[in-house]
Amino acid sequence: MADRKDFPLLMELGAPGRRAYLLPELDVPSRSLEGLIPVEYLRSEPAPLPELSELEVVRHYTGLSRRNHGVDVGFYPLGSCTMKYNPKVNEDLASYPGFANLHPYQPEATVQGALQLMHELEQYLCEIAGLDRATLAPAAGAHGELTGLMLIKAYHESRGESHRDEIIIPDSAHGTNPASAAMCGYKVVEVASNERGCVSVDALRKVVGPRTAGLMLTNPNTLGLFEEDILTISEIVHDAGGLLYYDGANANAILGKCRPGDMGFDVVHFNLHKTFSTPHGGGGPGSGPIAVRDTLVPFLPVPVVEKRSRPGDAVGTGKNLEEFYLDYDRPHSIGKIKGFYGNFLVMVRAYAYILAMGPKGLRQVSEDAVLAANYLMAKLKSAYDILYDRVCKHEFVLSAKRQKANGVTARDIAKRLLDYGMHAPTVYFPLIVEEALMIEPTETETKATLDEFVEVMLAIAQEAQEAPEKVRHAPYHTVVGRLDETLAARRPVVRWQGGKDMGAKAEDE
Ligand SMILES: Cc1ncc(COP(=O)(O)O)c(C=O)c1O
Repeated sequence: MADRKDFPLLMELGAPGRRAYLLPELDVPSRSLEGLIPVEYLRSEPAPLPELSELEVVRHYTGLSRRNHGVDVGFYPLGSCTMKYNPKVNEDLASYPGFANLHPYQPEATVQGALQLMHELEQYLCEIAGLDRATLAPAAGAHGELTGLMLIKAYHESRGESHRDEIIIPDSAHGTNPASAAMCGYKVVEVASNERGCVSVDALRKVVGPRTAGLMLTNPNTLGLFEEDILTISEIVHDAGGLLYYDGANANAILGKCRPGDMGFDVVHFNLHKTFSTPHGGGGPGSGPIAVRDTLVPFLPVPVVEKRSRPGDAVGTGKNLEEFYLDYDRPHSIGKIKGFYGNFLVMVRAYAYILAMGPKGLRQVSEDAVLAANYLMAKLKSAYDILYDRVCKHEFVLSAKRQKANGVTARDIAKRLLDYGMHAPTVYFPLIVEEALMIEPTETETKATLDEFVEVMLAIAQEAQEAPEKVRHAPYHTVVGRLDETLAARRPVVRWQGGKDMGAKAEDE
């Protein structure tokens, strides 16, 4: 197994005098920095920068990229994350200078195309959600959740119902749901799932009441199961005076098939970086727009992109000119929730993707994603346990309970998959499934890849039975093996520390 020393940092490479470029001789008088920069900020000696050739730098970064797993490298069935292939053409469009080089302080007259794109994207998302208006500002799903809950709060306050301080959340929910509710100042009330893996309507009736501000739900839920009682659930919450929040992280299962607004939801967030063509997983920018029912529109964050017509002659047609503008004049708005207008280039990709797919194409996305998940589930359920044996939507959750009895955990299975060049499924989530392995194949994989995954999962199940030690110590073919994940997450060492050995131990260990 390789350790970090086999892959030195740039700071540890190179030699004095080595260069990646040569500047021409200075042909103007050189000027001292003294007088330009206060003396206390001037270095007494040069910064300890590595001296490297261009080729060394290229090899370093190429080497690093080859150690990484991405959807462009292999199968990535990470449940709940929708790690699908994102068409490269959308990357090209997002890098057009007319989009990429815009400055957020440019006058509106010079960014009409960008504003039009945002206005139209808002309309498309509203159509997909079955709701009335949207804001594109939130930077991630969790940020959309917080924004949506702030709108719900503003709505209740506007009706003199500030006493509504509870948000109901099922026990299968994604962790960001209760976190967002708590961050917004709400008390989280958990509602149990029933034996079919859905919200128990009886349990829900017991927890709704005059303090209910709303319910947060993802549908299909994190088990990949469609909440079949959604209309009853919606009625119960609305009758109690609460609103319904839809966590749209799982929207890949329902595009063009059904709409959250029609199910009774009042606020919906979409993860553009999952469903609508922005590569993610490496911590890059995301986007979590929210669409809302008309009752919540007055509270939307500022600015909202609006369209108006003004007198003029549109290219000799005799018609008025249309112009787009940013509306800040919204007295009931919750205010600004993000610098400027959101992550614009993620919007460009989503816009291009939605236009390219069209309504039929989007429907096909969901049909294929659901078909792929059901295919895998049918092939794997004899070798692994499955708690809720029903037709699933875009993902499903296996349990490694049987393997655990032989000393092999869900984590061991996930690690063993890496040896086969496949990314692991999400493990230990949702919390209500013991030894959970959450698998989301997405619509973009071929049947051959799905079959290969089945073969590998069946082989691992057999190994777990016949040679459990082998699975327990996997992976064998990756550059690093079993890391101390808690230490890595709690005390990451992400900067060079002047030559101290950072590879083996965290800073203050
Ligand atoms: C079901 C669900 N809800 C919410 C989120 C939060 O989205 P984000 O990571 O963009 O904040 C996720 C992300 O994985 C999710 O899977």
